[in-house]
Amino acid sequence: MKHFLNLIDLSPDAICHLLAEAARLKADHARRVRADSLAGRVVGLVFEKPSLRTRVSFESGVAQLGGTSLYLPGNEVGLGWRETLADFARTVSQYVDALVLRVYRHQTLDGLAAHSSVPIVNALSDWSHPCQGLADVLTVRELFGKEAGRTVAFVGDGNNVARSLAVGCGKLGVRFVLACPPGYGFDDAFRAEYRARVSADGFAEVADPAAAVRDADVIYTDVWTSMGQEAEREERLRRFAPYQVNAGLLAKAPAHCRVMHCLPAHRGEEVTDEVMDGPACAAFQQAGNRLHTQKAVLEWLLK
Ligand code: CP
Ligand code: NVA
Repeated sequence: MKHFLNLIDLSPDAICHLLAEAARLKADHARRVRADSLAGRVVGLVFEKPSLRTRVSFESGVAQLGGTSLYLPGNEVGLGWRETLADFARTVSQYVDALVLRVYRHQTLDGLAAHSSVPIVNALSDWSHPCQGLADVLTVRELFGKEAGRTVAFVGDGNNVARSLAVGCGKLGVRFVLACPPGYGFDDAFRAEYRARVSADGFAEVADPAAAVRDADVIYTDVWTSMGQEAEREERLRRFAPYQVNAGLLAKAPAHCRVMHCLPAHRGEEVTDEVMDGPACAAFQQAGNRLHTQKAVLEWLLK
């Protein structure tokens, strides 16, 4: 059974296939070409955490491909506490053709995948956000024509979004630099897995945001406090303050440098209004691409 749990499980060829299909689906959508590749298919969407982009783009994407989606709030289906993950997976696999899930603990996805007879899609966990990573590399490709050889500087927390982006970049020959306060970078387990399965050269990690952006084609940032980390918010606001993506930092990057953000943005924290509303910002193009990359993932899993 094919699942979409982490970008690290996909070969560079598989990622390139999904990007090409996403570009095709995007062009078809712009030309209002009707599609029915998911006709008769039902996709269950389980969300334990809030979402705008992921939920709406999956629901719209399934509808655009002629399928049906079911929104299943996490507090109602009770993953792992109302019944075991195995019992949930064995039951719901008989009702839907694929399950898209946003969960607190990544282990929940692994537990479901072990017992599901339908594909499981990771719509964000504490460990990774592969749907985001895929849309991000498509956006880099669109911005520069070709992604290989470019440099992405992620300024902020070494979190789920950063891990998936680092993997997507590494698989496609994009240099990745993480600039974060000491203690907020990638852990040793991720570094080892990256070297073994993505690139032996690894990625760069620096403490100085100015050094990270000096040769960057893209500056990327995300919230400093992810969903589930709310108790650490005050401490994180203090530690990350020097890592704000603002006009001063952007001025230290090459003139052509673009700014990306997975959104939602906490304006005034990790990024300023001036940058978000300025000409360098590619965050909304990036958000639009979620729709098409996810349609490509669903077709890849279900067709
Ligand atoms: N970027 C992203 O996943 O947005 P949502 O949390 O709104 O789905
Ligand atoms: N790192 C953020 C991403 C939100 C899309 C979080 O996990 O809350």
